[in-house]
Amino acid sequence: MATTTATTAKVAEDATAVPYAARIEHVSKSFPAPGTPGGQQLVLDDITLDVAPGEFVTLLGASGCGKSTLLNLVAGLDLPSAGSIGTDGRPALMFQEHALFPWLTAGKNIELALKLRGVAKAERRPEAERLLELVRLQGAHGKRVHELSGGMRQRVALARALAQDSRLLLMDEPFAALDAITRDVLHDELTRIWRETGLSVLFVTHNVREAVRLAQRVVLLSSRPGRIAREWTVDLPHPRRIEDAAVAELSVEITEELRGEIRRHGQH
Ligand SMILES: Nc1ncnc2c1ncn2[C@@H]1O[C@H](COP(=O)(O)OP(=O)(O)OP(=O)(O)O)[C@@H](O)[C@H]1O
Ligand SMILES: [Mg+2]
Repeated sequence: MATTTATTAKVAEDATAVPYAARIEHVSKSFPAPGTPGGQQLVLDDITLDVAPGEFVTLLGASGCGKSTLLNLVAGLDLPSAGSIGTDGRPALMFQEHALFPWLTAGKNIELALKLRGVAKAERRPEAERLLELVRLQGAHGKRVHELSGGMRQRVALARALAQDSRLLLMDEPFAALDAITRDVLHDELTRIWRETGLSVLFVTHNVREAVRLAQRVVLLSSRPGRIAREWTVDLPHPRRIEDAAVAELSVEITEELRGEIRRHGQH
């Protein structure tokens, strides 16, 4: 278990199984307020949320409500101002920008993650090939990043995240820059990989349909400060399609709530 608290950045590794992939308890986060010397801006207020082992949760909210801030805290990239966060091992991360090393091939980007994980040299190439196959990019090992389309780059980024062999995958709008069709294909792939691997996923988006299409649970954050406004269990069978009537129906309900949140805080 890795634990981050307001007072210590200590990461405690513990081999015993924990009943959650992520546990966020009474977490608040403030940043220095721009233009107010000494002032603080409360961005997240008293967030309590568990992600169960193998669960797929989407975190939804208006722009600026603190979604990335919360994900960064779970990733251990920053510390909460109050409260505590525990994760089952070190999480893997995937962002909107693929952040691949352009001077390495697709395969070598993945092999680097394997190396950092301590995988023996002889095993790295076959394992990278297996991961490329998992994201349906077999044969792309030798391709340079600039030779790949946006969708292919995100597949490599996903393979690299999976190479870390984490039990929790944190995703911050990973498909937001892709066209609708490519995004739809990657939704299918992510769902398949999640179901095959038993990974836990905490996925940030401001796209309601994407949240409903992917998740078992959608958590809506309010804005200024970010608080948990409401959550929905999405009890729809897979495979789901973005245009499914049931996906659309729940999306309409959630969009109404999201609109209410945005109206209350006078954004956009
Ligand atoms: N390191 C930081 N220092 C100061 N303020 C910050 C910092 N990081 C985030 N903020 C502020 O916290 C608030 C929430 O930002 P955050 O990036 O978490 O929002 P978000 O919900 O991810 O938005 P988006 O949907 O646009 O990505 C914003 O007002 C932002 O300016
Ligand atoms: Mg963000």
